[in-house]
Order: sequence, then structure tokens, then C-alpha cells
Amino acid sequence: MDFNDILKKFKEEIEKIKEFDIKEAKRYFENLKVKYLGRKEGIIPNLFKKLREVPPEKRKEFGQKINLIKEEVEKALKEYYEFLKQVEKEEKLKKEYVDVTIKFKDFEAGSLHPVTKTLNRIVEIFTNMGFAIADGPEIELDFYNFEALNIPKGHPAREMQDTFYITNEILPRTHTSPIQIRTMLSQKPPIQIIAPGKVYRRDSDPTHTPMFHQVEGLLIDEKATFTDLMGILNIFLKEFFGKDTKVRFRPSYFPFTEPSAEVDIGCVICKGKGCRVCKGTGWLEVLGCGMVHENVLKNANIDPEKYQGFAFGMGVERLTMLKYGIDDIRLLFENDVRFLRQFKPFLT
Ligand code: DAH
Repeated sequence: MDFNDILKKFKEEIEKIKEFDIKEAKRYFENLKVKYLGRKEGIIPNLFKKLREVPPEKRKEFGQKINLIKEEVEKALKEYYEFLKQVEKEEKLKKEYVDVTIKFKDFEAGSLHPVTKTLNRIVEIFTNMGFAIADGPEIELDFYNFEALNIPKGHPAREMQDTFYITNEILPRTHTSPIQIRTMLSQKPPIQIIAPGKVYRRDSDPTHTPMFHQVEGLLIDEKATFTDLMGILNIFLKEFFGKDTKVRFRPSYFPFTEPSAEVDIGCVICKGKGCRVCKGTGWLEVLGCGMVHENVLKNANIDPEKYQGFAFGMGVERLTMLKYGIDDIRLLFENDVRFLRQFKPFLT
């Protein structure tokens, strides 16, 4: 075959590459490269092999011609390689094109979960009154959750707090009160903290979930009184539920406070007339509180002769339900957007 025919054929063949889509073109290109330059059976390497059969006086000329063809083929392949790369790049850009001018017409902004809103509001009201935030682990030792809070083993109060025990000594905390102990052991009075957090109990019905949130409060100094406690909680409840909210303190019992009280607010649903939510009493229980028990101070290395203080604890889901009139706590955990969407208009 004439050398010029080889070159002509090659040019025809490589020109065809433009008829294919990019994926096929790449394959076609590789095949063509092997066909002409492949070391084993390539057309051009085969010509070099034939060089031996050429009479010596023609060998030089013959060799030069093959080299020329080789150069032309290589040059064309290189050009087409660049061409393919360019096509590939353009296709990629076309595919990944993003129209940044499209408007988010139906874009719906998210909103905070009602429990988060309540937590934020509680924290805001108490920090405004000078309380700092304290924290503690969710997996607790029996000592902090019970023992140091004046709830020894066998105490009936332990049964009130259906505990998920991990071992005899380790448990997911049943309340945020252990943070009282941890704070008193790590800070010197005066102490003025609130401690928001998750707590765990073996309980599940329309008003109880196995995990819920509490906020604990603790104030220790040389002269804190029950009247101060009443004043602070009165301010808090009026800020949280509205300034016309009625507040009442009722004597109660907690092992870690003495005296102890429970705090009720006038029913937010019936305004005191009596309804299903307040069980006809006109009042809703919202908080537990009291003066920190002497034994608790001693367990936390605080001298009860010098210092005294008060503590309180509240359930965040319960406050949320009362504030927004939600009658089933499970709604707060299902994350049904039809429910959550209703909280958008509330900014606090
Ligand atoms: N820890 C109690 C509970 O989970 C709530 C509570 C009551 C906390 C009285 C207090 C308090 O700090 O003084 O039921």
C-alpha cells in the first residue's frame, strides 16, 4: 500500500470522530490510536518491522517516509485528543449549569420547635434576673441523682421517679437536681444558677414521655429566704404566662428541700372557672421548690450554719403544653410539620 493511502485513510477515519457522542468518540479515539500506533499490531509499527525486508539502498528513504507518517498521525491524534477534552468540558458545564436567578417562590422558612422556644424563654427570663447556666451529665451516678439529694436507698421517693437503671450505681438522670450537687461541689457560694437539660423516666402516656426536659434553679448565699424564692418564681411565671397570671404556693414535700412547696398558676384554659385540664380546680401545678435541705448542703460540703438557699425545678414540656394549649405531650415528639407549622406566628 502506498504511504499516502495510509495517511488518507487515517484522516478519513479520524474525521469520523465528530459523528459520535462524547462517550463513543472517546472509545473510537482509543481504538484508532491502537490501530495505527499499537506496538503489537499497529499499522505504523508494522511498517517499521517491514523495514528489514527493504533493500539496503532504499531503507533510508523508506524509513524517513514512515517517520513522516508517524509524525502526522501523532500530531492529528494529539489535536483530536485536545478537541475531545474540550467537548467533554463543555458538556460537563452544560450539565452542571445552575440558574442562580431562579426565585424561591414556595420556599418555606423553618422555625424553632415549641420546646426549644420554651427553653429559650425560660433561660432568657432567669438570665435577666442574674442566673448563670450550669450543666451536668445525662448519665449520672446514683450519688448525685439520689444519695446526695437526701434520697437514700430504700427511700419511697425513689419509686416516684421510675428510673432506667444501667447498673446499680449508674443511671440516666431522672431529674436535673443532680446538677445542684455538682455545682455546689465545684463552686463557692454565692451561687445563682439554672440548669436546663434532658431527663429520663420509665413513663409513657398522654402527659409523660420517657425523655423530657427540666430546668433546675439553685441560689445559695448567706441570706436567701423563702420570700425571695416566692418573689423570683412569681416574676418568672408572670413573665412566661402573662402579667395577669395568678400564682399560688402550696405546701408540699421533696426530700431535698425543707420546707417545700408546689406552685400553681390559675388555669390558662378556663381562667379559673374549672375545666378538664385543671380537673375542675381552676389551678395548674407548674413547679416544685423549697429551701435547700440542710443534709443536701452538708453532702455538697457547704456549711449550713453560714449559708442557705433555695431550689426549684420545672418541666419544660409541661410549660409548653400549658402555654400553647397542647393536650398530648406526644405531639411534641412526633415532628409532624402540620403541628409544628402552627408555632410560626409565636415569636417567643
Ligand atoms: N427534682 C424534682 C422532680 O423532678 C423537681 C424539683 C422540686 C426540683 C423541688 C427542685 C425542687 O429543685 O426544689 O420532680
